[in-house]
This record gives sequence, C-alpha cells and structure tokens, in this order.
Amino acid sequence: MTEQERIEELRTALHQHNYNYYVLSTPTISDQEFDALLRELAELEGRHPELFDPNSPTQRVGSDLTNDFETVVHLRPMLSLANTYNQEEVRAYYERVREGLQGEDFEICCELKFDGLSISLHYEDGRLVRAVTRGDGVQGDDVTANVRTIRTIPLQLSPGAGWPRSFEIRGEVLMPWNSFEALNREREAAEEPLFANPRNAASGTLKSKQASVVADRHLDAYLYYLLGDEVPADGHYENLQAARTWGFQVSEHMRKVRSLDEIFDFINYWDVERKNLPVATDGIVLKVNSQRQQRALGMTAKSPRWAIAYKFQAEQQSTVLREVTYQVGRTGAVTPVANMDPVQLSGTTVRRATLNNADFIAKLDLHLGDHVLVEKGGEIIPKIVAVDEAFITEERGPRVEFIRHCPECGAELVRYEGEAAWYCPNDAGCPPQLKGRIEHFVSRRAMDINTLGPETIDDLYARGLIRNVADLYDLTVDQLSGFGDTRIRSARKTIQAIEDSRQVPFERVLFALGIRFVGETVAKTLARRFHDIDTLSRVSLDELLQVNSIGQAIAESVIRWFADMDNIFLVERLRARGLQFQLSEQKLAEQSDRLAGKTIVISGVFAHHSRDEYKALIEQHGGKNTGSISAKTSFILAGDNMGPAKLEKAQKLGVSIVNEDEFLKMIEKD
Ligand code: IVH
Repeated sequence: MTEQERIEELRTALHQHNYNYYVLSTPTISDQEFDALLRELAELEGRHPELFDPNSPTQRVGSDLTNDFETVVHLRPMLSLANTYNQEEVRAYYERVREGLQGEDFEICCELKFDGLSISLHYEDGRLVRAVTRGDGVQGDDVTANVRTIRTIPLQLSPGAGWPRSFEIRGEVLMPWNSFEALNREREAAEEPLFANPRNAASGTLKSKQASVVADRHLDAYLYYLLGDEVPADGHYENLQAARTWGFQVSEHMRKVRSLDEIFDFINYWDVERKNLPVATDGIVLKVNSQRQQRALGMTAKSPRWAIAYKFQAEQQSTVLREVTYQVGRTGAVTPVANMDPVQLSGTTVRRATLNNADFIAKLDLHLGDHVLVEKGGEIIPKIVAVDEAFITEERGPRVEFIRHCPECGAELVRYEGEAAWYCPNDAGCPPQLKGRIEHFVSRRAMDINTLGPETIDDLYARGLIRNVADLYDLTVDQLSGFGDTRIRSARKTIQAIEDSRQVPFERVLFALGIRFVGETVAKTLARRFHDIDTLSRVSLDELLQVNSIGQAIAESVIRWFADMDNIFLVERLRARGLQFQLSEQKLAEQSDRLAGKTIVISGVFAHHSRDEYKALIEQHGGKNTGSISAKTSFILAGDNMGPAKLEKAQKLGVSIVNEDEFLKMIEKD
C-alpha cells in the first residue's frame, strides 16, 4: 500500500470511528487505538503536504489563527418560524393546514425546538464544503473552519450510503448543558463574564475568531431539515431518517402524527421531559410532513405556512423582595443581587436573583417589599422579570436606589462610557478586587498554583500576609501552615507550586497579570508580537492597534495598565523572584521581522501549507493579515483559484501578487 492509500484508508476509518463515538455513542475501538490511528495519519499528512485536505479527521482540532468570516448569500433563504405560545394557536394552525389542503389527509412531524443557532451545511460528493450561519436569513457568515471542529458533524459521508451528489442540510448548533456548565465554571474561576445560557455560549463560540477555541468548547449539532433537488423521499421525516444513515445526528424524538390530540400529547410530554435532555430546548416545532403538501401550502413573507413553533413557558413564580445587596468582582464591576423570600422554581429553591445593573432596577421601578416575578428560563441564574402588579398597594416600601459607594471599600463608584455597570475605581485597595486578582493569578490556566483556593487566599488576606500577587513569592511554610501534620504537608506543596510557577511561560504570566481585556488569546498575541514585558510596556497605542485582532478597548487597557507605577513595581518584584517576562528561546527563534509593516491578504488554495499556517507564518514574521484588499495592502499571497473579483480589485489598486514559493523565500533565513 502506498502512503497515499494509507492516508485515505486512515481518513475513512477515522471518519467512521468518529461517527460511532460521537453520534451513535457506541465506539468500536478504544480511545488509545483511536489516538494511535490519528497520530499515524497526522504523521503521514506531515510528510505529504500535497495531500492536505481540510476535511481530514486531523483538522478537527482547529487552528490557533484568526478567521475572518466571509459573507455568503444563502442558495435558499433561511426562513424563521411563526411562534405560538398556547394550545389554541396550535389548534388554529392545524385548522389552517386542513383547510389549505382541502380535505386531503396529512401527517404532522413533531420535533423538539433546539435552542442554539441555526446552521446551513452544504455537501458536494459527500464532503462538507461550506457551513454558513443564518445571519439575516438572506446571507450569513461562512463559519466552515469552526464547524469542522464539531464532532457530530460529518466531514466526509461514508461512500455508497446513498446520499445525493449535492445537497444542503440545516440544523441547530448547540452547547450541551454539561459543556456549558463546565465552561462557565472555568470562566468564573478566571473572573471572566459568564454566558447567560447555552445559546449565547454556542453563538459566541461559533463566531469565535479561533477554531481552536471552538474545538475546546465541545459544541454539538442536531440536523432537522434536508433540502436539495435529489432528496430521497417526499416525506420530511423519511428524509431525515435517511440522513441519519448517512452519518448525521438526527433527533430520535421526532414523531409523525395524524391528529391534534397526538400533537398535544407530544407537547405535554416534552414540556416536562425536556428537563432531562442533555441540551436546551425552548419549544416544539410542527411541520407538515409531505414536501408536496408543503409546497401547496406555500409561505408568507416571513415564514412557511406548513410549519409553526410552539414555545414553552419559562417557569415563573411570585415572591417578595426583601433586600438588594451588591457584589464587587475582580474588575471592580458592581452587580446588584435581589434577596427574596425562598420560592420553588424548576425544582430548586431560589432565594437570590440577578438584577443586572442600575438601569434595569430603575426600569422595573423596584421597591423593597414588592412582590416580584422570578423566572428561570434558558438561564442558569434566575432573574427578576417584573414587579407583580397584582400585589402593588398604595403603601410600598422604599424605592431601590443603586448605591453610590463601594460596599466593600467605600470608594465612590464610577461609570465608564458605553458600559452599563458601575465600577469601584479603587483597584489598588478594594479587598474583593485584590483577592480576585490573586485568585485569577493562581488559576489553572494562568500560573496554575492550584493548591491555593479562594478560602486560603481569604485567610492569608485577612492575616495581612498578601495584598498582591508578588506577596505570594514571600510566603513561608510557617505562615501557610497552622499546626498539625497535614497542614504542614499541604503548606509545603503550596510553596512548591509557587516555586514551580517561575517556569510558567511568558504568555501565561501576561494573562495571569489580569490586565483588563487581556484574556489568554490576547496575551499570546501580545507575547508573540512584542517578545518581552519591557517592550510591551513601552509600545504606543498605534503600535498596539497595528496588531491583528487588537482593538481600541484592549489597546487602551494595556496602555493604562503600564501607565500605573504600582503595576511597574509589581512587575519588578515578580521579575526579581524569577518569573518569565520574555518569550522562551525556542519561541523567539521562530520569530523574525522580515514582514514587519506589511499588510497581506491571503487568497486561493495552497499546496505547501494550509491557509491557517500561512496566517501564522505572517504573524510570526511580524506581518499583518487582513481579509480584504485595499490601497493599504502590501501584497496578496495567492494560491490556485484566486477569485476573479479579488484579482480585478488587486489589478485596479496596483497591489502585487506573490505566489507560495516566492512568499516562502521571503521569510527564509538568510
Ligand atoms: S425548522 C422552514 N426545526 O428555530 C423551517 N427549526 O424560528 C425552518 N429550530 O431558525 C426551521 N429546532 O434555528 C426547525 N426542529 C427544528 C428546530 C428549529 C430549532 C430553530 C431554528 C430556526 C428557528 C425558527
């Protein structure tokens, strides 16, 4: 067997194992065996760049590079559904269908309404060629690179399964509850803003500029609509059953019914049972099953007449507001929290609910002692949606006024332009901010001093032993332990972990410092671009804005951080303790400034490296990659099949075109 044949064999086998594992949940080989095959494939592909395939199973991990989404016009517009909220309207829909079909028999397909974001997938010759978000229904974003990381979406359909040569299939991209909860736990630990619900998390993730972020976050997808000129059957249900055999994840909970009673049974069953599903749903979708009948019924301007969505009621309860308290986060943002009489909601006892921000409180015209309606919909955190008018009396308690001073340190609160939150500006002295920064610093993805939990930090803070992250490096075993064997042992472990953190690479140290808006990705970008903290501390706003994916807010925040002498002293103390403040030798060796000042557009298909690899190379050598050609473009790195529109624009603007080999020469070491 040639290496090329082995590559093909491995790809086919791995696609099948992926499907067995992720869609069918019945793997036929062990994880180790799977990894071994994947490694073998990656190695062979490395030796044969000419056989690169974006749909190879090795591409599921996503790359680290920035995606610019292209806007794509949908071949068929992506309509939305008319919503109904009660069973009367469902009855009316059913009657309309019956009348529209003039007495002909019909079947209704009942489905769950998944709460994520819709996606359109195109397959040609059994290969995923494009994935586009709904956008405005007429055009959406091309998110193919991100979608490739979703394991339940097949990249390559098994040969001979009977799929049409060309078709479109639509469905919902979701974040399962368990991934959502894990993600939020991580974000909480890093004091990053939480996602309110799995839909926002899925949508934020799918539109992420980095496919590797998407790969880490475990999205899932259910497909619910097959379109094309050669679909196998007239029945929508039958088409989806066929699609399942081709490798798509199709819900097992779809049912075909012939009466209104059966529809109501389906609705009533899932209104309760949906709480046990691994993914969020917000209703039921009803569709006339026959496509011939669908065409006969047609559509209104916005939505098809043959389908309708029935939305579940979010569970609501009325209770009494007793007190509003305020929480100060690591960034100083102050969040108001309603404290209420306990009430049962979706199976849990709720005592506290978020009030978002000052504007929200004012809009509700909230008074202490008011009866309020609390809701727990798709959101994890309960929220107050309204004052329960039924209970409003002449004599209300005092009106809730947002505080003016920090509840923790007394500083006068401030509001930044364009932000809804009030902030405590005392970042150098406000205890939750100081403790929060330390917690962030020691967190797993930062310095990974994982033996220091929030309680120990609280304790050390209360005893006056730590005020900032540099103080950690002065701690002694004695200070950390009280009496007793175990405490001494765990104190030693902590000291060791603090010691070990000196080896943490610069990009993570930069993230650990907790500069506002400098998350893991931005920290990496800044480290790669500026190499060490001294250079970074001296860059100008303009230089920062020149860097790919660094916007105004991030740039200003970096400048502000380094303008504060306390931070400079902090860096000096940490440096004296041996922390890494420059890129490692190895990472530095890979860098150069051969493309400094160059703005480069990538277009077409390449033989030696993938597009993402070229983006990385451009950044590594100090250049900037942008999506569209303008007068500022230095040159276009062009592969095969560069689009005619781009070519024309390049000629018009006199932008030169560089081919792959020429480009690789440009960045070669002399
Ligand atoms: S069918 C023309 N089926 O709900 C039919 N949609 O407003 C188009 N959705 O944008 C959609 N689960 O994102 C359909 N089983 C399901 C669905 C579903 C969720 C979403 C979809 C669509 C929105 C309808």
